[in-house]
Amino acid sequence: MGLCSQSCGPTARTLLSGHSGLMLKNSMGFRKFAVSIGYWHDPYIQHFVRLSKERKAPEINRGYFARVHGVSQLIKAFLQKTECHCQILNLGAGMDTTFWRLKDEDLLPSKYFEVDFPMIVTRKLHSIKYKPFLLQPIIELHSEDTLQIDGHLLDSKRYAIIGADLRDLPDLEEKLKKCNMNPQLPTLLITECVLVYMTPEQSANLLKWAANSFETAMFINYEQVNMDDRFGQIMIENLRRRQCDLAGVETCKSLESQKERLLSNGWETASAVNMMEVYSRLPQAEASRIESLEFLDEMELLEQLMKHYCLCWASKGGSELGLKEITY
Ligand SMILES: C[S@@+](CC[C@H](N)C(=O)[O-])C[C@H]1O[C@@H](n2cnc3c(N)ncnc32)[C@H](O)[C@@H]1O
Repeated sequence: MGLCSQSCGPTARTLLSGHSGLMLKNSMGFRKFAVSIGYWHDPYIQHFVRLSKERKAPEINRGYFARVHGVSQLIKAFLQKTECHCQILNLGAGMDTTFWRLKDEDLLPSKYFEVDFPMIVTRKLHSIKYKPFLLQPIIELHSEDTLQIDGHLLDSKRYAIIGADLRDLPDLEEKLKKCNMNPQLPTLLITECVLVYMTPEQSANLLKWAANSFETAMFINYEQVNMDDRFGQIMIENLRRRQCDLAGVETCKSLESQKERLLSNGWETASAVNMMEVYSRLPQAEASRIESLEFLDEMELLEQLMKHYCLCWASKGGSELGLKEITY
């Protein structure tokens, strides 16, 4: 059956309806499910998110695997180029567990910052405070005796989590500086499924602020692309029906529009690939391993889905470090 051409069959429609939310509202539950059936190793996620009983479609899990793999490859390339003498700002981090996983791999930057709305940070902090498995790695790296934790802030030597609105840049900057963000250090900024929630003007301001704040920097963005076609339109409709409005969808028209936003807001180089490209460039052994985990009925749906998400990265300065050579 042709998926999402003019006539989307009911199965495809139902699946697509699930997928539209997949990368958005409840994304951590989907990640946790993929982890639970062996797509990748993440012992931390279960401490942040409850496992839903509902089984997720294999294309969702493969999509998540490609996303986690792609983002992680770019993060590691940056850490390698800077020899970890750098900082990472994960903006709209939600329940992301990258900090803990990098620590396990001995790949921590000088400092790792997370930002999200105060309400989300309060939830995440609650888990961190009461679960030694999450708190211990932070304490272990913190040489001073008092760790600063309040309702929506934790600041320690190597990890900080800050409650702030990414659309209020003076407030964001002030809070980051209070936590010793260092504008002189090579800086990696990450937004995964975040910019699409902001208007094009708000995301442009955030990108411009980032480019102006750091001399040497890289930006990684993961979100929708090709949203102008029929499949994209159905994704948007499904989300609207659930009161989820993608204010920034206009910038998600094409790989070109994604790159253009970066280049016109102070970034010197920009690259973008759709997730099908990321998937098709997975190391053969990894692709075979995950493909043997679950039977996939409709390859066409996987392809359609993956062509509607992209991985973009940009750089500014850092030629001497080789930041401009980083590629997926
Ligand atoms: C779909 S979730 C993605 C979470 C995480 N990046 C991931 O990939 O798992 C989007 C996150 O961005 C956050 N977010 C969206 N707009 C934001 C804003 N203006 N300020 C701070 N956080 C924001 C949301 O609260 C949410 O945690």
